[in-house]
Amino acid sequence: MQLIDKQLGDVKDRSLADQGRSRIEWAASFMPVLAQIKERFARERPLAGVRIGACLHVTTETANLMLALQAGGAEIELCASNPLSTQDDVAAALSEHYKISTNAIKGEDNATYYKHIETVVATKPHMTMDDGCDLVTTIYTKHNHLLADMIGGCEETTTGVIRLHAMEKDGVLPFPVIAVNDALTKHMFDNRYGTGQSTLDGVIRATNVLIAGATVVVVGYGWCGRGVASRAKGLGAHVVVTEIDPRKALEAAMDGFQVMPIADAAKVGDIFITVTGNFHVIAGSHFESMKDGAIVCNSGHFNDELDLDALEALTASKAQPRTFVDAYTLKNGKTVRVLGEGRLINLAAAEGHPAAVMDMSFANQAMAAGYLAQNYKTLEKKVYSVPDHIDEEVAELKLAAMKIAIDTPTPEQVKYMASWSEGT
Ligand SMILES: NC(=O)c1ccc[n+]([C@@H]2O[C@H](COP(=O)([O-])OP(=O)(O)OC[C@H]3O[C@@H](n4cnc5c(N)ncnc54)[C@H](O)[C@@H]3O)[C@@H](O)[C@H]2O)c1
Repeated sequence: MQLIDKQLGDVKDRSLADQGRSRIEWAASFMPVLAQIKERFARERPLAGVRIGACLHVTTETANLMLALQAGGAEIELCASNPLSTQDDVAAALSEHYKISTNAIKGEDNATYYKHIETVVATKPHMTMDDGCDLVTTIYTKHNHLLADMIGGCEETTTGVIRLHAMEKDGVLPFPVIAVNDALTKHMFDNRYGTGQSTLDGVIRATNVLIAGATVVVVGYGWCGRGVASRAKGLGAHVVVTEIDPRKALEAAMDGFQVMPIADAAKVGDIFITVTGNFHVIAGSHFESMKDGAIVCNSGHFNDELDLDALEALTASKAQPRTFVDAYTLKNGKTVRVLGEGRLINLAAAEGHPAAVMDMSFANQAMAAGYLAQNYKTLEKKVYSVPDHIDEEVAELKLAAMKIAIDTPTPEQVKYMASWSEGT
C-alpha cells in the first residue's frame, strides 16, 4: 500500500497550535488505557501502510486517538464529524505539531463541512473511522471506484451504527465495519456518563441557567438519556422523560422519573434535551405550546431531532442574547431559546466528553482498527461487534489504571457456572 504525501489540512488559526498541544497533553493524562495501546502500537506497528480516513469530533481526546493510530503506523487524514464540534486549537496542533493533516474549522458552513469530507475521501483511504457514518455513505454513493482498495471501517456512535445496519439490510454495505459503539466499554460509559455530564456542562456554559428547581425534559431514555436524566436529577432538577419504547418508559418510571408524552411535557418543561437519534422529536406544535423562555437543545447526533424549520415558520423575530443561544420570539408572543443551533450541545458549547471516559471508547477504536487491519481478509461485508476479548481487555486495563482489583472465580465456580446438572 502506498502512503499519501503529507498535507497540512485546513484549520482556522495555526497560531493556536501551542495551546492545542498543551490541552491534548492534559487530556492524555486522563487516558492511561489509550496510552498503553499507543505504546504497544509503537512496538508492533499493526497499522503500518494503512491509510485511515477519519471523520470524528476534533477534540483533545480524538487527537490522542490519532496519535495512537499514528504510532501504529497509520497515515491519517482527519475531518470533523459535525460543523460545530471542532476545537480550533486542537486542529491547529494536530496539523502543526503532530503532522496529522486535519480539515476542520469550528462553525464551518455546510459547503466547507462537505468539502472537508471530500478532502479526506480524496486521499483514497483503506479504512474509514466515522462518527455518524458520513464517510461510508459519501464513499458508497459518490466514490464507488475507491472500494476495491478498501479493507473496512470503524463506527463510533449509535446513529452511525443504525445507518450501517440499514445499509447491510439493503445489501449495500461496501465493506466490513466494526461497531465500536456496541462495545460495553463504549456505550455503558461514554453514552451514559460522558453524554450525561458533558450535556449538562454544555447547557450550563451556554446559558448559566440554574438547574436546581427547573423541570428538565429528557426526550429519549436510551444510554445517553439515562445519563442526562441522572445528572440533571443530581443537580436538583425535576426530571420528566418522554419515550416511544414501552420498556424504556417503564425503566424511566421505576428510576423515579415522571413519564409523559412530549405534547404534555412541552407545556411544563423549562429545559428540553433531546437524545433519541430520531427525527423531529420536538415538532412545531411542541415549540408553540412551550412556556415563555423555554430552553431547548439536542445532544443526539444530528440537529434534525428538532424541527427548526417549523420553529422558523412560527417565528416573528430572532435575536442572539448570548453565544450559542438563539432566542426565537414566536408569533404567539412567547420566546423559545435554542442552544447551539440544535447541534450536539456538549460539543458545541462545552468540550465534549471528559477524557477519562473517551479513554475507553478510543481504546476500543484503536484496537478495532488494529484488528481490522490484521483480519480483514476473513471478514464479510457486515457490521461486526468489537471482539469480546478487546472489550474485556479495555475494562481490565481501565480497572488496573483506577487501582481497582476484582475477584477471579474459583475452579469450582467456573465448573458450577458451566454445568446444568446442579439442582436444589
Ligand atoms: N452528544 C454526544 O456526545 C453523543 C454521545 C453518544 C451518542 N450520541 C447520540 O445520541 C443519540 C442517542 O444515543 P443512545 O446511545 O442513547 O441511543 P439509544 O438507542 O440507547 O437510545 C435512544 C432512545 O430514544 C428513544 N426514542 C426514539 N425516538 C423517540 C421519540 N420520538 N421520542 C422519545 N424517545 C424516542 C428510543 O426508544 C431509545 O430508547 C444518537 O444519535 C447517538 O449517536 C451523542
